[in-house]
Amino acid sequence: MSATSRRTHRCGELRAQHVGQRVRLGGWVHRQRDLGGIVFLDLRDRAGIVQVAIGPDAPEHVRSVAGGLTSETVVELEGEVAARPANMKNADLPTGDVEVRATKLAVVGRAVTPAIPVARGKGEELPAEELRLKYRHLDLRRPEMQANLILRHRLLQRARKALSDLGFLEIETPVLTKPTPEGARDYLVPSRVNPGEFYALPQSPQIYKQLLMVAGLDRYFQLARCFRDEDLRNDRQPEFTQIDIEASFVQMDDVLDYVETVLVALWDEAGHQVGRPFPRITWHEAMERYGTDKPDLRYDLPIADWTAQVQPLGVPFVQAALKDGARVRGLAVKGGSALSRKDVDQLAEAAKQLGGAGLAWVKRQGEQVSGSVGKHFTTTVLGTLGVGDGDAALLTVGPDRVTSPVLDRVRREVIRRLAPAPKAVHAFCWVVDFPLFEPDPETGKPVFAHHPFTSPRPEDRARLDGDPYACRALHYDAVYNGNELGSGSIRITDRDLQIKIFHKLGLTDEEWQQRFGFLIDGLGAGAPPHGGFAIGFDRVVMLLAGAGSLRDVIAFPKTTTARALFEGAPAPANPADLKALHIKVER
Ligand code: AMO
Repeated sequence: MSATSRRTHRCGELRAQHVGQRVRLGGWVHRQRDLGGIVFLDLRDRAGIVQVAIGPDAPEHVRSVAGGLTSETVVELEGEVAARPANMKNADLPTGDVEVRATKLAVVGRAVTPAIPVARGKGEELPAEELRLKYRHLDLRRPEMQANLILRHRLLQRARKALSDLGFLEIETPVLTKPTPEGARDYLVPSRVNPGEFYALPQSPQIYKQLLMVAGLDRYFQLARCFRDEDLRNDRQPEFTQIDIEASFVQMDDVLDYVETVLVALWDEAGHQVGRPFPRITWHEAMERYGTDKPDLRYDLPIADWTAQVQPLGVPFVQAALKDGARVRGLAVKGGSALSRKDVDQLAEAAKQLGGAGLAWVKRQGEQVSGSVGKHFTTTVLGTLGVGDGDAALLTVGPDRVTSPVLDRVRREVIRRLAPAPKAVHAFCWVVDFPLFEPDPETGKPVFAHHPFTSPRPEDRARLDGDPYACRALHYDAVYNGNELGSGSIRITDRDLQIKIFHKLGLTDEEWQQRFGFLIDGLGAGAPPHGGFAIGFDRVVMLLAGAGSLRDVIAFPKTTTARALFEGAPAPANPADLKALHIKVER
């Protein structure tokens, strides 16, 4: 399959079975070693590296070309595959049993000295990421990056096949769209033929996929490019890919079943067998036990409510803060007495940064109890908290909205520092029963926790007016080892309810008609019950590739300031173009 009219094999494919064959290869000079009488080339292509030997008996022109080769030059060569002598084999290379003795050699692509090296010695650090992003064509030559993109390709094909096998149709939706409400800002695109008007790039194909259900397509999927102008982190990019699905005549269980099928197939493609069904945990329980809606269930170490046990002890910082629904919550850390004073101080500092009342700690070693509030505790009290010999208690006090993020952070840090044995390597779970509304951090008013097309649980519908925060949504998230992989919901298909929700969000009739009128028309035209999901595909690839950032699994990513360093985007537009678009730029 890899043969072309110019080559017989890829470099990295040669093995002992090819010994004696004449081959033609093309590739990049990874390294050149001139040992006087003999020149060794490491020749690299997508499949790997093979050693090429040019000895004293090689034709004169071959020796002359080989002697002058610099790294990253592209060459084509012809030669015979030979077995390496036993003491020259390289067990680190899949091609390490053989070498190619070149009889023809030509430079077909000259290379200037590379701005960043592609070949690295063992333990040698990578160039700074900014340089890697600037010279992306060189960075992408590294075998690790190529392996990531090859894995990405395989995962994409597998997702396509899994969904197609389930009867989902791959349907493309527009990239020039109207705004969709996923919570981030839109990227706007001016329309030249409609002066003063703009398209938005889709934050997701949400409305289109619902309209496809209304249209009777029954099961849709798309490997959808989404665009969000939001603050970026290692697990967020301004443009990213979702495995987006929607299905008709379904309930939540059906959607979870489809998504599990896809995720299990993707993990299998990466060589991991994982069981299903995934456990389900309610949002409320996740917040109570782990302080987050994306709990890392590889580890025990749940958060506990210690108010009843700790309140009577007269700990001053607890007494001061225990008012207005505040609770004492903490972690009983097995083996936690191994945490150093520095560890605990750093944890407390992290807690403070999140606005907590601080983090108190108690260590128990034998009968000895120590720590910042140790004098208030006895071994008996600690026993009731599940803190045994050699363990530690870490505790904080305050309202849940403060203690949950603090203890989530502390829990993750403790796990990182103590590195306990995980219960499982792959801990998937579903988080279900999310609240429909959450308080807006600025105004305190209820706003939609996800997007406004999510259905309330039928039994909670009556609470929409009186007690919106108690109203649960038919919304679900897939979580893996503490990462949100994706989310979805059963949608509102009752036109009147959808309008009521728009009103609740403060949209006037005119506003919702202008923004979402076409969805409401659809719902009024005979909408089947439907629901769906979107898997964050880049995150899946990052996790399966063991990469630390989405930038390592996207061929041409943006920086955290949304810049594409290789091409220098964004860039000022040409004044004539702006004029044609009827745009004036103010600085
Ligand atoms: P949501 O907004 O939760 O849902 O997105 C689904 C998943 O997409 C991934 N994701 C991102 N990945 C990389 N960079 C980003 N900036 C980024 N933002 C989101 C996450 C996330 O879980 N329309 C709904 C889905 C639905 O209801 O069907 C939606 O887009 O992994």
